[in-house]
Amino acid sequence: MARNIAVLGSTGSIGTQTLDVARRHPDKLKVVALAAGRRAIEAFKQAEEFGVRYVALGQEPSSSGAEAPVVPQGVEVAYGAQAVADLVKLLEVDVVVNALVGAAGLQASYETLRAGKVLALANKESLVVGGDLIMPLAAEVDEARRVAGLAPEHGPAGALMPIDSEHGAIYQCLIGESSREVERLWVTASGGPFRGRKRDELRDITAKQALAHPTWNMGPKITIDSSTLMNKGLEVIEAHHLFTMPYDRISVVVQPQSAIHSMVEFSDGSVKAHLGTTDMRIPIQYALSYPERWDAPVEPLDFTKLGSLEFAAPDTDTFRCLALARAAGERGGTLPCAMNAANEIAVAAFLAGEGSYLGIAECVEAVMDAHDVQAAESIAQLLEVDAWARAEARKRIR
Ligand SMILES: NC(=O)c1ccc[n+]([C@@H]2O[C@H](COP(=O)([O-])OP(=O)(O)OC[C@H]3O[C@@H](n4cnc5c(N)ncnc54)[C@H](OP(=O)(O)O)[C@@H]3O)[C@@H](O)[C@H]2O)c1
Repeated sequence: MARNIAVLGSTGSIGTQTLDVARRHPDKLKVVALAAGRRAIEAFKQAEEFGVRYVALGQEPSSSGAEAPVVPQGVEVAYGAQAVADLVKLLEVDVVVNALVGAAGLQASYETLRAGKVLALANKESLVVGGDLIMPLAAEVDEARRVAGLAPEHGPAGALMPIDSEHGAIYQCLIGESSREVERLWVTASGGPFRGRKRDELRDITAKQALAHPTWNMGPKITIDSSTLMNKGLEVIEAHHLFTMPYDRISVVVQPQSAIHSMVEFSDGSVKAHLGTTDMRIPIQYALSYPERWDAPVEPLDFTKLGSLEFAAPDTDTFRCLALARAAGERGGTLPCAMNAANEIAVAAFLAGEGSYLGIAECVEAVMDAHDVQAAESIAQLLEVDAWARAEARKRIR
């Protein structure tokens, strides 16, 4: 029977690739709901193509100053952040692909699991900000899936499926293994477009230069995060939550070809690595097909053409965001939430030409220093911390 999916962030990089996976497997995936931000025309076209009835838009077309597009027949549209989060509760929805960008995805992740549905998660910021609240909910849904006979006989019950390629890789390397025998997670990084440069060479970096990622084609926020290595920092926090792994046993290694998507080291010294073509449709599809594997949406890796694989330690003196995110994760509580919000503001300012490239790390560090850390207790509290950190970050854009 086909799985009914809601795609949040359907007009973005992960969202459109998710729809491509659905397009290739109409017998296995049925798109029943879509959410986007402001690209209403694109979202409506998608709704028509996939015969989707429910669409939620984060922003009303009138508030963006654009002419309101015509809503296609048979489509019900709702507006605002609550409408996006409400979509996940629809009875028709079995699996939610959360491909929203930034902390705006937190509420939807939380509501998905609260509704007992499967969360296929691209929005890593959800776990960075609210991992302490989301993971216990995921454990409850896992348990409910086992009781209801929906979980596979072996391996994880599948309530929270990571879409990030690194976490999808680790997830697969861990299947069939005992957590007691896992020594270390190796999260691989491409190193971004400025790999090998020093701080002085980064002073005048423009948004256009930072947006040219060497191996992945992604949305603007994650592309900037990849260039500053903040993305890797967010992924370290994500790995900590997803795989219940202490920070001192999560290492980052630069693997410029991006062929190895991540690795797991075991107590006997064996290392399992996950390799594949650099195409996000592979991890997206796995998150939706688990525990099955479906036909590949892309050409598999040709090892005879791969050439050499290089590895290097990340340069955290130059790319300070990785060290800052790790420090935020280690301190825990509300600090990752404040750190993430400051980063979102600093990145948006950089993209708008209002802040400098090196100013991103400076802004994040200043907001982290100013934050009075508490234990993470509720979504409402995290939303307050997020708003506070955004206001603080705006004062520190340089
Ligand atoms: N791209 C990748 O290869 C990749 C890989 C791994 C993980 N991820 C993660 O996946 C997430 C999405 O990344 P992306 O690269 O796909 O980003 P993106 O291309 O910028 O797309 C973001 C999507 O979110 C929508 N959106 C933004 N704000 C919204 C709001 N307030 N309400 C409703 N919808 C909203 C956008 O809608 P509009 O465009 O219509 O405004 C768009 O559909 C991020 O957390 C990222 O870190 C991405």
